[in-house]
Amino acid sequence: MSPTPRTAVFPGSFDPLTNGHVDIIVRATRLFDRVVVAVAMNAEKTPLFSIDERVGLIREVFRDHLSVQVDTFNGLLVEYARQQGASALIRGLRAVSDFEYEFQMALMNRNLAPGIETVFLVPAFDLTYLSSSLVREVARFGGDVSQLVHPKVQQALKRKFGT
Ligand code: PNS
Repeated sequence: MSPTPRTAVFPGSFDPLTNGHVDIIVRATRLFDRVVVAVAMNAEKTPLFSIDERVGLIREVFRDHLSVQVDTFNGLLVEYARQQGASALIRGLRAVSDFEYEFQMALMNRNLAPGIETVFLVPAFDLTYLSSSLVREVARFGGDVSQLVHPKVQQALKRKFGT
């Protein structure tokens, strides 16, 4: 009998997907059979990219990765993870500044769903300073983001800002 496939959910806003996210997703595929990249619909932010645009970009970037699926979710993350049959939530930890928020969230999620573990992955060293908000800001003012995002995302940013 083959073992039960292991699923992890990688949740976030992905506004937009950065090379830091890509790095974490690829690392997660080495640990899990199926990685569901779950774009949050109810984040209390006004996003630059619509939910469909964000999902579309992630799907394009991971089109050749059969173990990566891209989806949206609404409401509680742990409920969505349960529906997906996930045993783990993936989060990227870049710096100490991420730690408090991530620790709080991991403990709250464990409180809500004790059977689901949060797994923190550390991105490649040269991507640790990277965030979607910095990418948006640099791109808004016409700066070069080619080292920070996939070419498809770079094109989408250029279209968005007319740069
Ligand atoms: O990329 P982000 O914006 O840091 O992702 C935050 C996200 C979407 C993972 C978080 O806000 C979330 O899980 N939202 C869903 C609602 C929920 O379950 N909240 C309780 C978490 S403790």
